[in-house]
Amino acid sequence: MDDLRDKYIALIAEAGNEATLEELRVQAVGKKGEISLKMRELGKMTPEERQVMGPKLNTLKDEINSALAMKKEALADAALDERLKGEWLDVTLPGRARREGTIHPVSQVMEEVTAIFADLGFSVAEGPQIETDWYNFDALNIPGHHPARAEMDTFYTHRAEGDNRPPHVLRTHTSPVQIRSMEKHGAPIRIICPGRVYRADYDQTHTPMFHQVEGLAIGKDISMANLKWVLEEFFSAFFGTHVDTRFRASHFPFTEPSAEVDIQCEWVDGQVKVGEGNDWLEVLGSGMVHPKVLEAGGIDPNEYQGFAFGIGIDRLAMLKYGIPDLRAFFDSDLRWLRHYGFASLDQPTLHGGLSR
Ligand code: PHE
Repeated sequence: MDDLRDKYIALIAEAGNEATLEELRVQAVGKKGEISLKMRELGKMTPEERQVMGPKLNTLKDEINSALAMKKEALADAALDERLKGEWLDVTLPGRARREGTIHPVSQVMEEVTAIFADLGFSVAEGPQIETDWYNFDALNIPGHHPARAEMDTFYTHRAEGDNRPPHVLRTHTSPVQIRSMEKHGAPIRIICPGRVYRADYDQTHTPMFHQVEGLAIGKDISMANLKWVLEEFFSAFFGTHVDTRFRASHFPFTEPSAEVDIQCEWVDGQVKVGEGNDWLEVLGSGMVHPKVLEAGGIDPNEYQGFAFGIGIDRLAMLKYGIPDLRAFFDSDLRWLRHYGFASLDQPTLHGGLSR
């Protein structure tokens, strides 16, 4: 019996994997195993022999079973150790950085413009990009036969044959929001409306979709002088330096008198610098709101007057951030966006500083 024990204890110790161990279990204590067969022989023994051999065999069987169990556990531990060697993970390593998106220069500039005008007491209004031709034209004193309608390269929505409703257009400017805001809030009113506008035009400085911000201030004694101060204040805050402006007499059907406004700039090696030099760049249209436009907005022109302006936002972004080609703004080229875009936490505020 001692031989039997020594043999199996040795074999179990040597077993290199669970399959070998299982074979040994069957061989020793399985139904037809060596020790099980020995136990069967007990029946043929005399009671005296059985009293001696019985407990001995049981002890042997227990010993073998616990040796098997211990070895099984040891094999499992060894397997786990082996796996851990290969699958070891250094949780102190720095994480893999994910590419962050950027804020488009147009969005950034809209935020900057909004922050400056909010500081000047203007609130933000919005209107639909698909407009009726009444809001886009008629209410702004541009009647059906007016050449300005043709000049604007308007996109008209499709009308099915026999549909005689007046046409809808993609708004050609943000000026229709003037009318909507006057209708809604009456006078006095001080608003800006940033948004998308559309004209059928495409070259280095024109895209069929672009952005404007409209301004409107109506009160009892608002004059052209107030317009000039507000715009100079705006440009100086926006460009972070004093910017001279030049008002040129112009014509818009919805303002009288009307002025186009240029800002002072200088060209150095094909780059434009705002606020220096003797050149001028046109950036907006403006004027005193036409009495007919006030009327269309439900405001009595005998009691109220005020100014309006429309600035090209994309143009402002190009000037401030030195971006040469307008078309690239809307190509969604990731390289362009990473280069000209802004970090998402770079929120422009007047107290925190606008982007530079
Ligand atoms: N709506 C004009 C344009 O798109 C700009 C403008 C706005 C002019 C308000 C005067 C007053 O060109």
